[in-house]
Amino acid sequence: MQVAGIRQAGDRVELIDVAGPRPLAADEVLLEVMAAGVGNWDEFARTGGWDVGARPPMALGVEAAGTVVAAGWAAGEWAPGDQVMTHPLPLRDQGAWAPRLIAPAGLLARKPPGASWEAAAAFPVPALTAEQVLGDALGVRAGEQVLVNGASGITGGLLVALAALRGAQVIATAGPAHRQRVTGLGAHHMVDYHDRQWPAQVRAITGGRGVAAAANAAPGGAATAIRAVADGGRLATITSDPPGGQRGITVSSIYVRPDGTQLRGLAKQFGDGQLEIPVAASYRLAEAAQALAQVVGGHAAGAVVLTP
Ligand SMILES: NC(=O)c1ccc[n+]([C@@H]2O[C@H](COP(=O)([O-])OP(=O)(O)OC[C@H]3O[C@@H](n4cnc5c(N)ncnc54)[C@H](OP(=O)(O)O)[C@@H]3O)[C@@H](O)[C@H]2O)c1
Repeated sequence: MQVAGIRQAGDRVELIDVAGPRPLAADEVLLEVMAAGVGNWDEFARTGGWDVGARPPMALGVEAAGTVVAAGWAAGEWAPGDQVMTHPLPLRDQGAWAPRLIAPAGLLARKPPGASWEAAAAFPVPALTAEQVLGDALGVRAGEQVLVNGASGITGGLLVALAALRGAQVIATAGPAHRQRVTGLGAHHMVDYHDRQWPAQVRAITGGRGVAAAANAAPGGAATAIRAVADGGRLATITSDPPGGQRGITVSSIYVRPDGTQLRGLAKQFGDGQLEIPVAASYRLAEAAQALAQVVGGHAAGAVVLTP
C-alpha cells in the first residue's frame, strides 16, 4: 500500500510502500480513507517527539474521515458502508495518510451527513482538544467569564463555540481580520492581541477582576494570558507553555486524548451546525510534505487535509 509517511524518524515525508492492512482484530474496523487531517502535531510525530503508537516505516496522520469497508465481529454498531471520523490513537497499524486505515471501533463517530469529507477529517483532534480543555481541565460553567486566547485558529474557534454553548461569556483574542468570524462563533467581546497590553483590556471588560477561566491556544501565549485571569482562577494551555502558578491560579497543560464517547457527542453538535471547521486547503497524498510545511509555517487560514 502506498502511503504518505517516513522510513525513519526525522525523514522528510514522502510516498512510501508499506504492507497492506493486516486481518482485523475483533474490535477493529477497516476504513477506506476519504480525507485525513494535517496538523502541526504531525510534525512532532515525524520527528519522533510524539509517540503515536506505530514505528517507522509508517504512514503519518492521526485523524481521518472515511467509509467502513470491513468490521471485526466485536465492532458493535459499525458495519460496511458507514461514514465515520476518528482520532484512532494509539495507531493499531498505519497512520491516516493512507488509502486504508485500521481503527478501533470504540473511537469512531458517525460523520454528519451535511459535513464534507475534508471538514470531518480535520474535526476530531481540535474538537476533542477543545472539549477536554473546557470540560476536563477548566470545568467551565454557565455564566462564567472565559478567555480564549488564539480564537482565530481551528482549535481556538472550537473553544469559543463550545464555551458559548456551555453558557459562558466568552472574551476572545484575535487579529482584526478574524473579528467578524469569531463573534459569529459566539464571542461576546473581542480583543486584538496585537495590542501588547491586551490583558489589561480583558481586565477592564471584567470590572478589573479578570476572567474566571482562560484557555490558551496561541503558541507561547499562556504567560500573557494568565495576566487576564482572576486570583484563584483557572488556566489551561494547549501549546506546551504552562506558566508557573501564581495568585492561586490552577494551571494545566493539555494534550489531546482519544475518546470515542466525547467524539460522538461533538459529532452531534457538528451535525446540528453548532460547530464548524473551515477548510483552507486540500492536497493529494503525494503532496503531503507540502501540506505539512504549510501547516508548520502557519500559513493556512483554516484546516489542511489530504485526500488519497
Ligand atoms: N495540545 C494539544 O493536544 C493540541 C491540540 C490541537 C492543537 N494544539 C496546538 O494549538 C495551537 C493552535 O492550534 P490551531 O489548530 O488552532 O492552529 P491554527 O489554526 O494554526 O491557529 C493558530 C492561530 O493562532 C493565532 N495566533 C498566533 N499568534 C497569536 C498570538 N500571539 N496571540 C493570539 N493569537 C495568535 C493565529 O491568528 P492570526 O491569524 O490572527 O495571526 C492563528 O489563527 C497549535 O500550536 C497546535 O499545535 C495542541
